[in-house]
Amino acid sequence: MKEANLTLDINEKPPVLKWIILALQHVFAMFGATILVPILVNSAAGQTVLTIPVALVTSGIGTLIYILCTKGKSPVYLGSSFAFITPLAVGAMKAGIGGAMVGTMLVGIIYVIVAIIISFFGKDWIKKLLPPIVIGPMIMIIGLSLASNAVSEIGISADITNIDYKGVIVALFTFLVTAVVMLKGKGFLKIIPFLVGMVSGYILAVILGLVDFTSVLEATFFSLPNFVLPFVSYTPTLAAALTIAPIALVTMAEHIGDHTALSTIIGKDLLKEPGLNRTLLGDGLATFAAGLLGGPANTTYGENTSVVGMTKIASVWVIGLAAIFAILLGFLGKFTAIVSTIPNAVLGGVSLLLYGFIAVNGLKVLIENKVDFSKSRNVIIASSMLVLGLGGAVINVSTVAVSGMSLAAVIGILLNLLLPKDDEVIEENKEEEKEEEKTEENKDNEEVDNLVVLDHPLIEHKLSILRDKNTGTKEFRELVGEIGMFLCYEAMSDAKLEDVDIETPIKKLKTKRLNEDKYAFLPILRAGTGMLDGLIKVIPNAKIGHIGMYRNEETLEPVRYFFKVPSDVKEREVLVLDPMLATGGSGCDAITQLKNEGVKNIKFLCLIAAPEGVERMKKEHPDVKIYTAALDEKLNEKGYIVPGLGDAGDRIFGTK
Ligand code: PRP
Ligand code: URA
Repeated sequence: MKEANLTLDINEKPPVLKWIILALQHVFAMFGATILVPILVNSAAGQTVLTIPVALVTSGIGTLIYILCTKGKSPVYLGSSFAFITPLAVGAMKAGIGGAMVGTMLVGIIYVIVAIIISFFGKDWIKKLLPPIVIGPMIMIIGLSLASNAVSEIGISADITNIDYKGVIVALFTFLVTAVVMLKGKGFLKIIPFLVGMVSGYILAVILGLVDFTSVLEATFFSLPNFVLPFVSYTPTLAAALTIAPIALVTMAEHIGDHTALSTIIGKDLLKEPGLNRTLLGDGLATFAAGLLGGPANTTYGENTSVVGMTKIASVWVIGLAAIFAILLGFLGKFTAIVSTIPNAVLGGVSLLLYGFIAVNGLKVLIENKVDFSKSRNVIIASSMLVLGLGGAVINVSTVAVSGMSLAAVIGILLNLLLPKDDEVIEENKEEEKEEEKTEENKDNEEVDNLVVLDHPLIEHKLSILRDKNTGTKEFRELVGEIGMFLCYEAMSDAKLEDVDIETPIKKLKTKRLNEDKYAFLPILRAGTGMLDGLIKVIPNAKIGHIGMYRNEETLEPVRYFFKVPSDVKEREVLVLDPMLATGGSGCDAITQLKNEGVKNIKFLCLIAAPEGVERMKKEHPDVKIYTAALDEKLNEKGYIVPGLGDAGDRIFGTK
């Protein structure tokens, strides 16, 4: 995974004022979606199931629980999940608030169980259980199942005879503002289109006299959120469990997707450290706590991931403070009273986009994973899921109700496991598995052996000419330089860039550049200087040093004869150059000399490496990554690499 240029790393704390501003930015990002969930659940259920203050408080508490479970190593914000809007509404209609809350707690328990299984058996089985052909239609159902609600909120459903034109205007205005912000919004604004849409629609609704402020005037400034507790507020029942709990399987896929996206942004694989088991445990306990207090199930928030991507601030301290602010907001009675006065028309305008937006994400899962709908099994799985999920089916099994959406999830999973895969699908999967194994192997090379072997047809082509004993000095020398350049390109793939402001002939632009003054190239004499040509073409401002040594032909041990490096070498990132890593004696000794000078950041670039040299380097300098154009078979009795290319120095300088 590529390292990212972060302004603040996960465990770094910003200065107080900046800390507060950054945390507020996260609160804005989560706010729109988090408060929409209780409003929409209540509207769909036709009764009060959830309240905004409790949703805010449980989102904050959940995020703090998540931070604890992940040992402060993952900057994720948890907010109310859209996926549970329909299941919670159906659950509440079937079994009351108690049914909805027990279902939510069960979702949390399922996450915890899966986290425990992953701790013991790894995570590969999840991918098999929930492939894109199951997840895609499921997400589409989550979005589309609420479509009719959006239409009634706008006020244009078939059963409405007297259309309230003011309401329709507000809904359309809300929709337009949200869409324009999505299309044209820049920076932070682009992350919060729904919030901007809602605020704008609300203002128009106030102007048109559609908002009644009586409840705001009556509300106190501070008030205790209306927590709904088991055995106090209701008698727990499992009656809605099967309506709500199976959706956990779908949101788990969302959890993995969000963590993967955040990992790429911050350059740290969160599924490895703190690990998927810990992130799921955090999300699960957060959702359990939410259910326990009367809040909606939590989920990882893409909006907040976008904030991290935009600010390059991954500090978990910022996320933690945002969580505390969310909890405090839940206690501001006047504020939540204002939010509760948002008219239906505004919600309809937002929902018109929001529900479709969720459904389109399901389509994206299918398209990005190239799900082939010319294959009958895929058609069968998607069709049956969509019809069951959207048809409004509710099956009562004794006292327990299973809603269409949960039924769709279960049927999708079963069909995918049971339907035969045709040959082509099996072949495709095999290819995919092979590819995955290959990338895993490459990862192992990089991470375990600290060895990167360039794998590219162009390199193979050039090496083939280089190895040929009939290749003359001129061409040999040119090729050594060229391959050196490619090695440098690969070795710089994790280089940190710095922000710069420039002006193109067209407009001003924020862009990124390499600070070339941070690097030093140190060829091992003689042959290493042959590679230098290529490297200084790409980073011309790097400083250059020389390490003189030759190999004693008898003992094969290096003999030092010169050492001259830049005076500030220990502050620089150093690339040591030598075409050949044979026994590893020369390379290791050069690096030992550099470490004695205080150099910490060293990479070793060679054209051909022998396994013996790689092994020695790994043992003596495990922190040094080797970049090579080829890993050859072995050394011969004279210490030459086989098949190799002969004596690199002699061939570069034509001395034999
Ligand atoms: C070659 C090569 C390396 C060394 C590799 O140099 O350029 O520096 O041998 O062998 P090792 O891994 O077993 O130490 P050589 O000693 O021939 O000197 P030269 O570059 O001056 O030709
Ligand atoms: N040095 C070379 O130049 N070539 C080899 O094969 C080994 C050491």
